[in-house]
Amino acid sequence: MPKVIFDTDPGVDDAMALLFLHLHPEVELLGITTVFGNAAIETTTRNALFLCAAFGIDAPVAQGAGVTFDPARAPGQWPEAIHGRNGLGDIALPEPLTLPALDPRDGAQFIIDTVRAHPGDVSIVAVGRMTNLALALQRDPQLPELVKDVTIMGGAFCVQGNVTPAAEANIHGDPEAADLVLGAAWPVTVIGLDVTTQTQMSRAELAQLAQGGGSLALLHDISQKYIDFYDRIIPDAMLVHDTCACVHLLRPDLFRTVEGQMRVVCGGIAEGQTILKPAGRPFPPSPWDGVPVQRAAIGVAPEAVMHLIGQVLSGRG
Ligand code: BDR
Ligand code: CA
Repeated sequence: MPKVIFDTDPGVDDAMALLFLHLHPEVELLGITTVFGNAAIETTTRNALFLCAAFGIDAPVAQGAGVTFDPARAPGQWPEAIHGRNGLGDIALPEPLTLPALDPRDGAQFIIDTVRAHPGDVSIVAVGRMTNLALALQRDPQLPELVKDVTIMGGAFCVQGNVTPAAEANIHGDPEAADLVLGAAWPVTVIGLDVTTQTQMSRAELAQLAQGGGSLALLHDISQKYIDFYDRIIPDAMLVHDTCACVHLLRPDLFRTVEGQMRVVCGGIAEGQTILKPAGRPFPPSPWDGVPVQRAAIGVAPEAVMHLIGQVLSGRG
């Protein structure tokens, strides 16, 4: 049974991923760490606490980074047109909002303490900026030896980005952090736009799920603005980026991966681009030398992934 720390910036598709992890019978959710990204850190943390209350999740929530790993970087703009000003599709949150208490530690410390409490057993699934993971690595250089594996949603290898033609949002939002995480000696699998743009839930499927009421109805309501935003590119469906990454943790057989050393472009017009040097391919000396070989997903069985997501969300997983 995977013991999971979920690092997230809720976020509409983050909310679905959180519910998926909570409902999957084989996942033990050890905790949630928040990061800025889809909204400011105060908002993503409030949303994580709200979703825990709404979904009946009693795992601890620790607030993570509110600024980039290199604090000199400008934070960028929140994607309000996609996730709403409140990060949850601008639905009205119940007032007054009664929230669970926050864990007193910051996100990076929560990751370190939790990994050290279960050495070799913890899987980290990170679906926002990689800032908390980078801070944890900086604070505890032994961490890579103690973590079982890391799955991240981010990057684009053989396809274009979604915030620039070169870059995907989670990597573009903190490229130095992502470069550190991909270059650390822990096993990383990157689930990027190459595969997550293929995993789509139609508005009709979501409406069908919502008939189950409760958490599913909430998921449906928060997702409408997100679906509207993408309508010109993906008619009447939502990309389930973050849930796709969670599926990889449980069913890696549904993905095709390539191995290689990955670097992140940290400046210029291609800032945030993820570039993989295939393992074993000879090149003259380059910035990829000495970087650990990791895995990036470049193929997926989208029907099987979406079937599993539907089964788990509707309690038949
Ligand atoms: C990623 O960016 C965020 O908006 C989503 O939650 C997802 O993690 C997709 O590029
Ligand atoms: Ca996210």
